[in-house]
Amino acid sequence: MPAFVELYKVKKQFPSPSGPIVVVDGFDLRMTAGEFVALIGHSGCGKSTVLGMIAGLEPLTDGDIVVAGRAVTGPGPDRAVVFQAPCLLPWQTAFENVEIGVDRVHRHEPAAERKRRTERVLERVGLAGAFDKLPRELSSGMQQRVGIARALALEPKMLLLDEPFGMLDSLTRMELQDVLLDVVEQRRTTTLLVTHDVDEALLLADRVVMMTTGPRARVGAVLELPFPRPRVRAQVLEHPEYYAMREEVIGFLEAQEPEGARARPAA
Ligand SMILES: Nc1ncnc2c1ncn2[C@@H]1O[C@H](COP(=O)(O)OP(=O)(O)OP(=O)(O)O)[C@@H](O)[C@H]1O
Ligand SMILES: [Mg+2]
Repeated sequence: MPAFVELYKVKKQFPSPSGPIVVVDGFDLRMTAGEFVALIGHSGCGKSTVLGMIAGLEPLTDGDIVVAGRAVTGPGPDRAVVFQAPCLLPWQTAFENVEIGVDRVHRHEPAAERKRRTERVLERVGLAGAFDKLPRELSSGMQQRVGIARALALEPKMLLLDEPFGMLDSLTRMELQDVLLDVVEQRRTTTLLVTHDVDEALLLADRVVMMTTGPRARVGAVLELPFPRPRVRAQVLEHPEYYAMREEVIGFLEAQEPEGARARPAA
């Protein structure tokens, strides 16, 4: 299968008072269209930096990123990003926050059709009863549902998710993981999910890409997941290879020193 997303020898350095710090170096990744990759690694290794470069929010120091045949040179509507906390417009309702995206992507459609699209995407993420609520009237889980709905409404070629459930309680997190699972399996949108959560990666992804600890972080190992789709949480958990897969990821992470470990004085 040809690559739909390609990161080739990607390098990122940030300036610092003691000289440039090379956070990511020689990061290579290819994703096929419709693939779901979970990117996992210790805190501070450079996951958000990689995601930000694909999003076009961070310039590359070196290397290339190509999405759908075009070199990434800045942000664009072909790539939708969801962060830990959604930045919703506080004076607009859930409906209006999503409608902005629908209106932009489908501006040539009649207003009634755009309204139906907005309704459908909100229903999709379980917000059927909350169209007219302002962000401050919504729980953090519901706000994140709006954030996901807004990203989906853009009908992006690629979804970039940076720990989208990291701030939610575990029940809400599970609910939204199920929503995401359902949506990605229906739409087959190419998705990169940054996560700390091994079980989340195993539930959602086709492949788990494990990053080494920086500086000069790169892809350290890749694990192809054998769980069939469509997936159901209980079936994934009961899959005979689940624990072996889990051990492999945890084993990789344990073998990596967390960032800063070297800087600490020996005990
Ligand atoms: N704008 C910046 N200027 C300088 N250094 C930065 C900048 N952004 C990130 N860094 C550094 O780059 C490294 C990687 O940061 P990044 O946020 O990508 O890590 P991460 O893997 O997403 O961590 P976490 O899991 O905690 O979110 C860190 O050491 C961080 O301090
Ligand atoms: Mg991060």
